[in-house]
Amino acid sequence: MYLDKSNDEFRNDVLNGLKQPLQKSTPSKYLYDNRGSQLFELITDQPEYYPTRTELSILKQNASEITDKITKEIILIELGSGSSKKTRYLFPEILKNQNKLIYFPIDISFNFLDSTVADLESFHENLTVKGIPNDYVNGIKECNNILFENNYNFESSARLILFLGSSIGNFEPEDARDFLKQIRLTMYDDDLLLVGFDLIKAEEVLERAYNDKAGYTADFNLNLLHRINRELGANFDVNNFEHLALYNTRQNRIEMHIKSKIDQFIHLKGCKDSIPIKKGESIHTESSYKYDEQKIENLASRSGFLVEQNFRDDKNWFNLVLFRPS
Ligand code: AVJ
Repeated sequence: MYLDKSNDEFRNDVLNGLKQPLQKSTPSKYLYDNRGSQLFELITDQPEYYPTRTELSILKQNASEITDKITKEIILIELGSGSSKKTRYLFPEILKNQNKLIYFPIDISFNFLDSTVADLESFHENLTVKGIPNDYVNGIKECNNILFENNYNFESSARLILFLGSSIGNFEPEDARDFLKQIRLTMYDDDLLLVGFDLIKAEEVLERAYNDKAGYTADFNLNLLHRINRELGANFDVNNFEHLALYNTRQNRIEMHIKSKIDQFIHLKGCKDSIPIKKGESIHTESSYKYDEQKIENLASRSGFLVEQNFRDDKNWFNLVLFRPS
């Protein structure tokens, strides 16, 4: 029943997005089915895709400074944990100061989460991993419930919530603010939130990162059509589409599109109307907003946070920002 419900939602979102008269679009979260998450992992290893590597180096370099900001026992929660590759570097740092650690990775890619949890379980004997297959906000609430049910001592512990990888950039700026406000509501005063922001930089560097030579970003983008075909019974012929990623300077965002090579019609199973798509017309599949310090500062203050500290790399390409509830 739960699966049917999420399939209906997927279907409605896709139909609604494809029927938009000015710009067809689909919510970017649908890029992350099991295959999409695997392809994203491959993207993170590409030489052109600097964000993951840069964020990891910042995290490694500042792990103790970050975890030392919380003097109570840390409970670790991660939003959109994926492979949890970066987070692994925090475990030993945290376990220097406490003898056990609970880690809640939250991810909507359920199968992927399962394999990550299985992989982490053997990581450290004092580490307990509890995978939460949910969206971000409901996921945090679920963590809170689990902690309550297990009579966890909220007085002596605090949560460090991670939102890494510049996934915040997928939100429209106003949605990012609303999202952080919602996160704020689930937090106690001693909790901290660590958010990865990709920074505004030269257009060539940005566009290269989303057009890797090996073509994994293209595969990742076009995988959405395979997913829609499989799960919604659509008739996309993927050969008639191409990947497009460009930097929108005015809005400080990378836009990923799937562009039609020909005039064609899309059908979805059980849907009478066919949707026309013209040669050169595109489906906007993802935005990835880039920030600067001022924008981050504004976002923090408008969502109930203070910037506790910025952690950047030498090139100023990426900023890992620690937010404290204000
Ligand atoms: C996972 C959303 C942060 O926007 O850079 C990578 C996704 N899309 N290449 C990003 C992505 C194309 C990535 N985020």
